[in-house]
Amino acid sequence: MTNRYAIILAAGQGTRMKSKLYKVLHPVCGKPMVQHVIDHVNELKIEDIVTIIGHGAEKVQDQVGNLSQYALQTEQLGTAHAVMQAEAALAGKEGTTLVICGDTPLIKSDTMQALIDLHEEKQAKATILTASAQNPAGYGRVIRNSDGEVEKIVEHKDANESELKVKEINTGTYCFDNMALFSALKKVSNDNVQGEYYLPDVIEILKAEGEIITAYETDDFGETMGVNDRVALSQAEAIMRSRINEKHMRNGVTITDPASTYIEADVTIEQDTVIYPGTMIMGSTHIGRECLIGPHTEIKDCRIGDHTVLRQSVAHDSSIGAEVKIGPFAHIRPQSEIMDEVKIGNFVEIKKAVFGTGSKASHLSYIGDAEVGKDVNIGCGSITVNYDGKNKFLTKIEDGVFVGCNSNLVAPVTIGKGAYVAAGSTITEDVPGEALSIARARQVNKEDYVKNLKFNK
Ligand code: UD1
Ligand code: CA
Repeated sequence: MTNRYAIILAAGQGTRMKSKLYKVLHPVCGKPMVQHVIDHVNELKIEDIVTIIGHGAEKVQDQVGNLSQYALQTEQLGTAHAVMQAEAALAGKEGTTLVICGDTPLIKSDTMQALIDLHEEKQAKATILTASAQNPAGYGRVIRNSDGEVEKIVEHKDANESELKVKEINTGTYCFDNMALFSALKKVSNDNVQGEYYLPDVIEILKAEGEIITAYETDDFGETMGVNDRVALSQAEAIMRSRINEKHMRNGVTITDPASTYIEADVTIEQDTVIYPGTMIMGSTHIGRECLIGPHTEIKDCRIGDHTVLRQSVAHDSSIGAEVKIGPFAHIRPQSEIMDEVKIGNFVEIKKAVFGTGSKASHLSYIGDAEVGKDVNIGCGSITVNYDGKNKFLTKIEDGVFVGCNSNLVAPVTIGKGAYVAAGSTITEDVPGEALSIARARQVNKEDYVKNLKFNK
């Protein structure tokens, strides 16, 4: 079998983004563009992946990690110059090289594979992935001769009037015969409007040498779109979003209003879960079966068990068990571990707390830096007092505890197994198991007090 290599171009600053963040690191559905490209390339059988880095080199490397090798392009002299930087890694190797831009996050691995297959079947030296654009402005145009063969690619800025009318564009993805690529690159000049070494010029060079050049035209322009500015970024986001939603729906998830449902690329959801409108599910979240999520719910980096309900709530970086009911209007903050069959009701905030099986905080509570056992009932308005202005302290509430309404548990403090805390208590000392603790002023009723007030005539 032919050896295959891939070069990903990711050294540009992305001036048109007008951003501090390097272009290829801008996220689409929560994942940086270059990572989408790498992940798609990774689905293919590729021997070596070389990513060309320059602007933000370290940050791109941190993002992609060891999924790729790297070659540094210290000066951005154009896409041909960028590919040249892979010479040390790839020159002299026989095989097929896929070149793809780090700003085309929507190109699917199936399309890349089809491009490679056509290239190898035709024994071409270069095969271009092209698409027909309704508005081709900004793209390189594919110029064909009277026999329909590809002659060359002309950049938008270098194109004449008739070339500007061509709708078939260069998507910036190509397959090359690796040896032919590196030998042709040496012949590319920067004699053009932008004074850059253009990779597409390789096509004309190889054609002039009588080599076979082919093109694979996809019928889906949306897939091939290059993201150069924030308008295109939002369009890419919309395409990716509907692709992700469709994948989940085909896998058996109900999304009642896909247009208002935002699910990031790496989220996984099991069958028969229903997602209601206005919901964002982000990061590495996993949601089990038959859950009801939303409306208007935000979940990031959470693991959620089966049959759990999360309504109008926010949950970040936490694990939530099965048969749990959360919301409306609850806030689960990072590092919380909510066990099975828990109920977290309205206006309850949980932070860095373990909340044991079957326990409840149904209304208006703050539980932070706490270990709550099983079958605990936290009454309305009760809170852990975890912070003295400088340090955070732990509250332990053991199994079966009943905390009456509006209690303050001043940490560090332990409420022993099965104990009761009377409503309105401010607990500053440990409560032994099975005890009733009352920590509030006694009620005094002053008879006729109001009647005898001087101003009460
Ligand atoms: C490029 C193509 C154009 C095609 C379009 C498709 C060239 C000259 N033009 O134009 O024909 O229609 O993509 O989206 O190739 N990069 C480097 N080093 C450089 C320059 C660029 O690594 O010196 C990287 C960029 O980070 C980017 C990619 O190459 O990821 C493409 O560069 P960009 O400037 O976006 O090219 P376009 O003008 O979009
Ligand atoms: Ca581009």
